[in-house]
Amino acid sequence: MPRLWIKDTLTFLNQEITLKGWVDSRRDNGKIIFIDLRDKTGLIQLVFSPDKPEIYELANRLRSEWVIEVTGKISNRPAGMENPKLATGTIELEVASLKVLAEAQTPPFDLSTDGKEISEDLRLQYRYLDLRRSRMKKNLIHRHHFIKFIRDYLTNKDFIEIETPNLTKSTPEGARDYVVPARLSPGKFYALPQSPQQYKQLLMVAGVERYFQIARCFRDEDTRGDRQPEFTQLDLEMDFPQQEDILSLIEDLFKQLIEKLYPDKRISVFPFPRLSYQEVMEKYHTDKPDLRKNKNDPQELAFAFIVDFPLFEWKEEEKRFDAVHHPFTRPQFEEGETIAQLISRLKQDPSKPLAQQYDFVLNGYEIGGGSLRIHEPELLEAIFEIMGHSKEAIKQKFGHLLEAFSYGVPPHGGIALGLDRILMLLENEPSIREVIAFPKTGDGRDLMMNAPSEIDEKQLKELHLKTF
Ligand code: AMO
Repeated sequence: MPRLWIKDTLTFLNQEITLKGWVDSRRDNGKIIFIDLRDKTGLIQLVFSPDKPEIYELANRLRSEWVIEVTGKISNRPAGMENPKLATGTIELEVASLKVLAEAQTPPFDLSTDGKEISEDLRLQYRYLDLRRSRMKKNLIHRHHFIKFIRDYLTNKDFIEIETPNLTKSTPEGARDYVVPARLSPGKFYALPQSPQQYKQLLMVAGVERYFQIARCFRDEDTRGDRQPEFTQLDLEMDFPQQEDILSLIEDLFKQLIEKLYPDKRISVFPFPRLSYQEVMEKYHTDKPDLRKNKNDPQELAFAFIVDFPLFEWKEEEKRFDAVHHPFTRPQFEEGETIAQLISRLKQDPSKPLAQQYDFVLNGYEIGGGSLRIHEPELLEAIFEIMGHSKEAIKQKFGHLLEAFSYGVPPHGGIALGLDRILMLLENEPSIREVIAFPKTGDGRDLMMNAPSEIDEKQLKELHLKTF
């Protein structure tokens, strides 16, 4: 029999149906027992009357979070007993048969509140219970619709989603890598991707033309409210773009997404402002300004693109220039400038040139970043040299990309959006952990699985590893 959801019970008035779910709460009214049954779509009132002693006795034992199956007739509640707060508040199910499918211990915390009053460590330890609360379930469901909207939108624009590997080689995004020992290559390691950056550029060499991916990224950095060691990006790349092609694509995606999925929210300025890095640093002293007109209004969304970033920044501790975004970012050319002229200008004073780079900001958060890319091998090599890499190191770390670029590479560019951060803001949540099913703590632990954890001697040996 197909599963019947509680949200659909209203159409079954005076019919006998079977429902499955959890005991949400129980109220006794004189002799009658009322149970609110819960599934992922909502609640419905079950009624147990003493006229059916066998079922009544069993119902008497029911406690919160037990899993049950009930069969009975849907009827209108008696006049005056309706509950306007419940979608099914005009009806109830008179139980004719009851099966207990699983009993439950008393949960370690209350599941009926929004959970914000409970210690987060305890919530994360029992995340499978924490996710039962309606706020968390709503966040999971909204996340699904949000990602589905993006997939459909980009599919309509001729993008295709392609999965890229998680066992790979380091790509510089400015954080530490997570590494995985390679059993079959003793002493060697894979790196988990900080982003699919190089793969998506290689997909442009492969002639894919428009790629996207809902991609998991891994960065070993200190976590905080808007940062997780693993997080999800919408990563995309296209060929033959002007910078404005990418910005207007993202702008239209978000305009339509907000209209469809968050109709109560207001976009403060449309088209989204394009502001230069210099301008925002002078005016707001940050490159992710909060441009809301009224900062107390949780329904206001102030999107903006920050453009014209410097290409390089000076790293005092390392005494070298580093890419502000990443080394694949295209410099801005001067009118009529050749590659050779650009390279000599870059070398003369690396602090001056600007990049064809853009950040996407929302209400004071950086929610995305991207750039047009360098597709000329000689320019890319020059950039690596300015960043202090020797010719040997360039060949070893990026030889595959330079070689690929010798086989006919289209000009290309893209962007990546931090989906967890965007959802946090759209759901009015204080941290990205609230919109991730199984997030890690501030110090990178999974309290439910108890990870990271030791591995045994045999595994270490197989991996040719020693711990100190
Ligand atoms: P970038 O490093 O700017 O660009 O990352 C893109 C967006 O990802 C989000 N983000 C994070 N979210 C949660 N936890 C983290 N630790 C975290 N780190 C980053 C941010 C950020 O704006 N490859 C380039 C994109 C490109 O050039 O196309 C990249 O990854 O919202």
